[in-house]
Amino acid sequence: MSFSSKILDWYHENKRSLPWRKSTDPYKIWLSEIILQQTRVAQGTPYYLSFVENFPTVYDLASANEEQVLKLWQGLGYYSRARNLHAAAKMVVEQYNGKFPDNYKKLLTLKGVGDYTASAISSICFNEAQAVVDGNVYRVLSRYYGIDTPINSTEGIKYFKSLAQKVMDPANIRDYNQGIMEFGAIQCSPKKPLCLHCPLNDSCVALEKGLVDTLPVKLKKVKVRNRYFNYLIPIYKDADGNQFTSIHQRIGKGIWQNLWQFPLLESDDVLEIDDISIRYKEVLGDMKSNEVIAYNVNAIVHKLSHQHLHTKFWLVYINDDFANKIPVEEISDFPVPVLIADFIKAFKF
Ligand code: ADE
Repeated sequence: MSFSSKILDWYHENKRSLPWRKSTDPYKIWLSEIILQQTRVAQGTPYYLSFVENFPTVYDLASANEEQVLKLWQGLGYYSRARNLHAAAKMVVEQYNGKFPDNYKKLLTLKGVGDYTASAISSICFNEAQAVVDGNVYRVLSRYYGIDTPINSTEGIKYFKSLAQKVMDPANIRDYNQGIMEFGAIQCSPKKPLCLHCPLNDSCVALEKGLVDTLPVKLKKVKVRNRYFNYLIPIYKDADGNQFTSIHQRIGKGIWQNLWQFPLLESDDVLEIDDISIRYKEVLGDMKSNEVIAYNVNAIVHKLSHQHLHTKFWLVYINDDFANKIPVEEISDFPVPVLIADFIKAFKF
């Protein structure tokens, strides 16, 4: 028996009775699918019921005010999904005369509707042979076929969509798509899958090779830390017209160890000129200034592998002579990070 026949048989035996399964109305299917992208079935069902009760048709949702929509969405998080939901309802009313687009390609034009949602709606409501690929499907396919291509890589996304298209049952797509997702949620679950009593356990590659716990593979996304750098460039002109500034070596571990830099004021957020006019003393100490000018008004975002440095350079004109000053002609002799080298090159003192 083929993979898809086994999934279909399993689904007919095990499917849960869920409120949206009684309908093929694209409005209701769309609502349920958007909600289920945000949470599991058990938590999502009350939200679905309350949306349908408050907004029985796409016209009701489109004419609601945004606050009402956000209120009903409250608790699901990721509020841009709720805003997209509202925007898509308006699109259906205004651009499609209140009638949901009836195919995959047109569904993709709706706000917040991507490959997954368009596949789900077109297959469940219109029997279009579009295989859904959600987290459940990635898990089932990667385990059953023993595929370790990362599911969140560009290659993986393409590969799994084409594999899903290849192994689906186009003649029973409505049940097949819901079946494979349900199978992933209940039988082939992320932790403690029920392999002992699985209808696919005689041909599952992951089970045979002991890879059930390691598949699917997901690339770890590096968490990017945003930092806000304000380089303060002291500029002092002596009586003969010679210009001086100040630069020091970075000490301690971390980025740019031992490279040189201008005095740095790191902040929790982007600073503006009024902040700098007060806070420059935190790094320039006794130096007194009567003029501070922003060299760049919008922060330059310097991207490192784990950090985004939102950087502004500030020209701080100093009234009096100060210790350890450096003639500006010598500034190019110091080894500095590219970010600072670019500034020195562009500013030309
Ligand atoms: N998860 C998201 N949508 C689903 C559906 N239609 N059936 C089963 N599980 C799902």
